[in-house]
Amino acid sequence: MPPRTSVPPRRRPPLVVTADGDLLDDLLRLAAAGGVEVEVAADPAAARTRWQPAPLVLVGIDQAQPCLRARLARRSRLVLVGRAGDMEPGWQIADLLGAEHVAVLPAAEPWLVDQFADCGLDGAGTARVVAVVGGRGGAGASILAGGLAVTAARARLRTLLLDADPLGGGLDLVLGWEQLEGLRWPALTGADGRVDAPALVRALPSRGDLVVLSWDRGDLLAVPAEAMAATLDAARRGREFVVVDLPRQLDDAAVTALQAADRAFVVVPAELRATAAAARVVAVAAPHCHDLSVIVRGPAPGRLRAQEVARALGLPLAGALRPEPGLCRGLERGEAPAAGGRGPLAELCQRIVTDLTGQAPAGAA
Ligand SMILES: Nc1ncnc2c1ncn2[C@@H]1O[C@H](COP(=O)(O)OP(=O)(O)OP(=O)(O)O)[C@@H](O)[C@H]1O
Ligand SMILES: [Mg+2]
Repeated sequence: MPPRTSVPPRRRPPLVVTADGDLLDDLLRLAAAGGVEVEVAADPAAARTRWQPAPLVLVGIDQAQPCLRARLARRSRLVLVGRAGDMEPGWQIADLLGAEHVAVLPAAEPWLVDQFADCGLDGAGTARVVAVVGGRGGAGASILAGGLAVTAARARLRTLLLDADPLGGGLDLVLGWEQLEGLRWPALTGADGRVDAPALVRALPSRGDLVVLSWDRGDLLAVPAEAMAATLDAARRGREFVVVDLPRQLDDAAVTALQAADRAFVVVPAELRATAAAARVVAVAAPHCHDLSVIVRGPAPGRLRAQEVARALGLPLAGALRPEPGLCRGLERGEAPAAGGRGPLAELCQRIVTDLTGQAPAGAA
C-alpha cells in the first residue's frame, strides 16, 4: 500500500454554555449555518473541562452570573450572547467575565455565523472522504461503504454515509435504518437543485456519531452535481469522516464526489468476468481519483488471487475480503455491516479508518 499522509489533529468544537432552550436553538441554527457542530453545557460545572480547549466559547446571558460565581479562568474568544431585551446588564457582566464581545440577537446573527465558520476553517477540509464503487453489479460496494461508516462511528468520528447511487435501493436499508425519521435525497433537492447543506446534515437520520443521506424508495431522481458539492462541503466542515457509495455509471454528482475523495476503492469479486467489468469502471473512475485502489472479495471459484486481480487492473491492492456468510444473514435481520466489530469486513474497515484518521474503533485489535 502507498504511504499515507499524516493524520490531521481532531478539531475541538466551539462551546455554548446556556440552559435557555430558545437561545440554544438559535445558536445551533447559527452554528449549522457556519458549518460547525458545537458542544453544549447547561451550566459552568458542565462547561469547566471544555472551557479552555474550546476555540470559541459563547456564554448565554442566563449563565453569565453562574459562570462568574464559578470563577472560570479568563480566556480569549469569549462571547456573551443573548436576545435583545434580556441583555440589560450585559456590558457590565461581560467586563467582569472577561468577554471580548457582547452579541445581541437577532442583530448579531451574521457576525456569529462568521465566528462559527472561523472555527470550522481551522480544520477546513480535514474530514476524510472515502468513495466506494463496485467493479460490477452486486460486488459488495454498498456493504463496504456501510461497514466503513459504521466502523468510523464506532471510532467516535462524526461520520456521514452518503448514498450517491439512485439505483441502489437506499443505503438506509443496508444499515437497517429504513424506519428512522429524517430526510432523504429526493426531499432535499429542490426543483432548481439547490440544497441548504448545513441544515441538511442536521435533518438527516442519525444514531450516535453516524448520519446517513440515503435515497428513499420513491420516484427516481439524480443528485444534481451542485447539491453533491454543497453537501460534501458542509460535511467536510461539520463531520470528520465521510463515506460515499457511488453508482457504477458515474454521473456528474458521482464525479464530484470522486474528485473530493481522499481515497477511493473499487470492490471486485475474485472472478475473471468481474475483473473484466471492473477494468471498464476503473477506466472511467481513475482519471477523477487521487488515490484509487482495489478491494477483492472472495470466494474465488477459479482460485484467482487478489494480487492478480489488482495487477490486471493496474492498481494497488488495498485489501481482500474472505467470504462472510454470517454477514448476509445479519443484513437480512437489519443488522448493520461491521456493527459487531468482528470478522473480515470489520477488520478491513478498521484498518482503512485507522490508516486515514489514526482513530481506532472501541474494542478494535
Ligand atoms: N463482505 C461480504 N461478505 C459476504 N457477502 C457479501 C459481502 N459483501 C456483499 N455481499 C453480498 O453481495 C450482495 C451485494 O452487495 P452490495 O449491495 O454491497 O453490492 P453493490 O456492489 O453495492 O451492488 P450494486 O450493484 O447493487 O450497487 C449482498 O447483498 C450480499 O449478499
Ligand atoms: Mg450498491
